[in-house]
Amino acid sequence: MSVQLPVVPTASLPALLLRPWQVADADALVSAHRDPALRRWLTSVISDEVDARRWIDSRRRGWAAGTRFSFAVLNDGAEGLGAAVGHVTVKVTDEGSAEVGYWTAAEVRGQGLASRALEAVVLWAFGKDSPVPAVRLDLLHAVGNHASCRVAERCDFGLEAVLPAQPPAFPTEGHLHVRHRPPQP
Ligand SMILES: CC(C)(COP(=O)(O)OP(=O)(O)OC[C@H]1O[C@@H](n2cnc3c(N)ncnc32)[C@H](O)[C@@H]1OP(=O)(O)O)[C@@H](O)C(=O)NCCC(=O)NCCS
Repeated sequence: MSVQLPVVPTASLPALLLRPWQVADADALVSAHRDPALRRWLTSVISDEVDARRWIDSRRRGWAAGTRFSFAVLNDGAEGLGAAVGHVTVKVTDEGSAEVGYWTAAEVRGQGLASRALEAVVLWAFGKDSPVPAVRLDLLHAVGNHASCRVAERCDFGLEAVLPAQPPAFPTEGHLHVRHRPPQP
């Protein structure tokens, strides 16, 4: 399955294209993962091209198995498609629910890219022909990750619970935000 999700431009920002990760994105992936802020908040990081290829292959297998749907986010401006500068994923966790995750490259942050990309993926996941068997999407972040909390709020994921720390993987409390599938017509 090769899903492509276009996101319309805004008055000041180019359009986006979301599509499954490809082997050709390996360099962009390694480059984005050099950022200390990204490394601080993600549980797994990519250090080199071998890691990147392995990670991209596991995303490909996620699509094939219907268990994890991961998108690279590319600017689609006047000069055509740029390199991958963001990531949004939907991981099936349980019957009826799935978890979203995301990051953006340091150089494109603060422009609404994560929020626009996440909204596109949520609409796709809850859409009529979606392969995501979920009626609710969970979004988890560490309490100190204020940027991630803003993305959750901007995309209408309501705050459902404050989760206790679970060291060593999650050394601080977390927020569980949830967005429910709207009633189908
Ligand atoms: C979280 C992240 C994806 C946000 O990406 P982004 O493209 O900058 O997101 P957006 O521009 O859509 O929105 C960012 C919001 O966070 C706010 N923000 C950015 N940095 C912030 C900070 N340090 N403290 C508080 N708010 C912050 C922005 O002002 C914006 O809010 P606003 O709409 O009220 O102005 C990005 O910071 C990132 O990749 N972080 C590292 C990885 C990560 O934390 N992933 C999520 C794990 S749960």
